Amino acid sequence: MKRAFITGIEGQDGSYLTELLLAKNYEVHGIYRRASNGSLTNLRQLQSDPLVFQKTLFLSPADLDDAESIRIPLEQAAPDEIYHLASQSHVGASFEQVEETCRVTGLGALRLLELARKLPKSPRFFHASSSEIFGSPESSPQDETTPVAPVTPYGCAKAFGTQMTRIYRKNFGLFAINGILFNHESPRRGENFVTRKICRAVAAIKAGRQTELVLGDTSAQRDWGHARDYVRGMWLALQHTAPEDFVFATGKLHRVQDIVELAFQAAGLDWQKYVRQEKQFFRPADPRQVVGNPAKAKRVLGWQPEITFEQTIAEMVQAELPA
Ligand code: NAP
Ligand code: GDD
Repeated sequence: MKRAFITGIEGQDGSYLTELLLAKNYEVHGIYRRASNGSLTNLRQLQSDPLVFQKTLFLSPADLDDAESIRIPLEQAAPDEIYHLASQSHVGASFEQVEETCRVTGLGALRLLELARKLPKSPRFFHASSSEIFGSPESSPQDETTPVAPVTPYGCAKAFGTQMTRIYRKNFGLFAINGILFNHESPRRGENFVTRKICRAVAAIKAGRQTELVLGDTSAQRDWGHARDYVRGMWLALQHTAPEDFVFATGKLHRVQDIVELAFQAAGLDWQKYVRQEKQFFRPADPRQVVGNPAKAKRVLGWQPEITFEQTIAEMVQAELPA
């Protein structure tokens, strides 16, 4: 039985990855950030399953800012594979909490690499890098060779973690790889990301609990996929014979406006009656033309996204509406 160690296990990707690995008969160990109300939402079901919790799934509270809190569960797990997913993952928030973002998202990755390097049995290491490392790229689509030139504090912190992952691979012989992930969504997406914010608002408007939806730049474009497809990519990347970086993306661009129209339509509402834009939600810098080329992941790993943009938004709206 293989053992995996996941940081950020309670996040969107961490929870889907846990389900995937348990289905593949892994023993899964994970760290999550302790919340004052003690609740784990995305892992609630697995945590209450007596056949899984403390049998093949082990959870420990830890903080990326506190190396010792990670070292103990990591050494106990003695993993074959580490998936480093924990991060301050909101780009907009990174402009308000620059230092924290660099500490958690940038230095946090270095902390994990250093702890991994010192384990008696060398594990394989996955770093959740981001398309934000490319900033506003001059050429599209982006691939593994696109120059790193971030324009946001979050992107800069991820660029640091990405390069450190390469340095540990090259200089310390760690099987360490970057998955350069483009946007991916699901009903488990954090509430402040644009897809979930829109889908939640649609349900609230439908139920009469909300009267309008205030967004930032609705002309912004992204390459949006589904989180289930991306965690499958993470796993495939760590099974490859050699440590290499991979872009995971759909290769298709959509506008925030497209999400608005799909989501309101799915609930039988006219978006024009409810949606407005406000400067407060515009960002000081917002990457443009960010669209990935997943050709290498397809060629080398046999990976390709299976869930479409339209299916993803439909699933997200459905999850917000009353049963
Ligand atoms: P997510 O839902 O925000 O999950 C991140 C997890 O990290 C959360 O559970 C969070 O806990 C935890 N965390 C934050 N600060 C921490 C700290 N100081 N110590 C310990 N844990 C901490 O993000 P995701 O969408 O699953 O993404 C997974 C990873 O992929 C992230 O590194 C993200 O930056 C990266 N990524 C995501 C996308 C995407 O589109 N989803 C694209 C590119 C890259 P709290 O809930 O307590 O904050
Ligand atoms: N969050 C948010 N809220 N975004 C809005 C809004 C709004 O009200 N209105 C427009 N947008 C635009 C943002 O300016 C951005 O252009 C786009 O919608 C997507 O924003 P987010 O959903 O917050 O995601 P992101 O692209 O900034 O970051 C996500 O993807 C990155 C990979 O490209 C995060 O998951 C990052 O962690 C990830 O690295």
